[in-house]
Amino acid sequence: MKESVGTTGLILNEPLLWEKGKKGRCGFSLPRRDVESFPLDQELTAEGPDFPDLSEVDVVRHYTRLSQWNFGVDTGMYPLGSCTMKYSPKTNEKQASLSGFSGAHPLLPASLSQGALKIMFELEQYLAEITGMDAITLQPAAGAHGELTGMLVIYAFHKKKGAQRSKIIVPDTAHGTNPASAALCGYRPVPVRSNEQGILSVEAIAEVMDEDTAGIMVTNPNTLGLFEENSQAIADLVHAKGGLVYCDGANVNAVMGMVKMGNIGVDVMQLNLHKTFSTPHGGGGPGSGPVCVKKHLESFLPVPRVVEENGRYLLVENYPESVGKVSAFHGSVGVMLKAYSYIRSMGPKNLKRASQLAVLNANYIKERLKGTLHLPYDRPCMHECVFSDKHQATQKVATLDMAKRLMDYGFHPPTVYFPLVVHGAIMVEPTETESKEEIDQFIEAFKAIVNEAKEAPDLLHDAPKSCKVRRLDETTAARKPCLAG
Ligand SMILES: Cc1ncc(COP(=O)(O)O)c(C=O)c1O
Repeated sequence: MKESVGTTGLILNEPLLWEKGKKGRCGFSLPRRDVESFPLDQELTAEGPDFPDLSEVDVVRHYTRLSQWNFGVDTGMYPLGSCTMKYSPKTNEKQASLSGFSGAHPLLPASLSQGALKIMFELEQYLAEITGMDAITLQPAAGAHGELTGMLVIYAFHKKKGAQRSKIIVPDTAHGTNPASAALCGYRPVPVRSNEQGILSVEAIAEVMDEDTAGIMVTNPNTLGLFEENSQAIADLVHAKGGLVYCDGANVNAVMGMVKMGNIGVDVMQLNLHKTFSTPHGGGGPGSGPVCVKKHLESFLPVPRVVEENGRYLLVENYPESVGKVSAFHGSVGVMLKAYSYIRSMGPKNLKRASQLAVLNANYIKERLKGTLHLPYDRPCMHECVFSDKHQATQKVATLDMAKRLMDYGFHPPTVYFPLVVHGAIMVEPTETESKEEIDQFIEAFKAIVNEAKEAPDLLHDAPKSCKVRRLDETTAARKPCLAG
């Protein structure tokens, strides 16, 4: 367990750069001039902007300190369920920043972008292999954007058949973005409850599936971290009524090399490259949510498509049934490059092993913490496990208190109060990149916190105590994100 709780946080006071600056300090040295001097234009000699005078060390320390008040996957375990905050190998960042890629202008013609187009073309093929689907678009810039694009494809399919439908089935274990994406596309989401095992039953779907329902949108593995075991039977039922099956494949980190969604009845799915394929999730950075479809939906994919012809790569617009363009330029190419580098460096065997380890780690945590925390669905899980605060209710300690206290132990809290089907949910996703030692520390920290809940609950109510920013009014912080002071 991490030592000396209460003193581990970095409590450093750091002034603004303007307060730090001292007239005459300098942080650069220019090389000796080797050309004739030339007088500057008048406009460039006017009073400069109000920048502080700083030395190099002033600036380096300032930003290093600020970075230490933050928490990232490079700092420690970040078991944020649903987000797959795994450590991504730095080599993939390096490949993506090669100057030929990072310096390429998105308006370059295809003839001058052959390298990038080749990588996009091959990445599509790798993703098709991993998912068991036939055709891919890399354009969407996020998971939810991929969902919307997938919904547009389903909409276009029904439109072409001449009978638009009005509803989409969305289970209670779907990711929150699913009903929103369906509604944005004009469909009415029809909620369906998961069964006592936390998964969908064929009977529940049979009750709501009809000929006015465009299809079903299933997050698989679902937000309880459970695999939808009845997927094929549900797909058969939906197909028999003319509907399509959408899979939110953002959790594919749990099934690579083990399940191909295209083989169990899925017609359309999106992946989150920024979860599984070497781009960290969150922080407002660029994402990528490729959409994968079976052959019968290929003609509806967004344009332009990357096509290979005699060893040359082209961007082709001529797909009259396409839903159109969904992203500026080619989408998030930097994220695609990292995914390509990750897939190539791992190879099929190691991608499968990554998923196996992700599942093993989650099950290990589930088994070791289930006596300590309430486990609502006591069965093998996939990449994440979901507990609740039910056992702590008598001590008037809630999920939020335990999550905040974990920060004092040096861990990023898990996802809390999601999924909604579990009251006071604590959703832990360790990912494959955490070692047994790190996971054991996390488990011991959680056990210590649960003991504190019994013996000194106020320690939890007041947590975190050793972080730069203490317990915040969450509502105000969300509406007014100024955390200073
Ligand atoms: C299962 C699932 N679906 C969809 C999304 C949405 O992805 P994004 O945040 O990129 O829009 C997420 C995000 O974590 C997710 O976990």
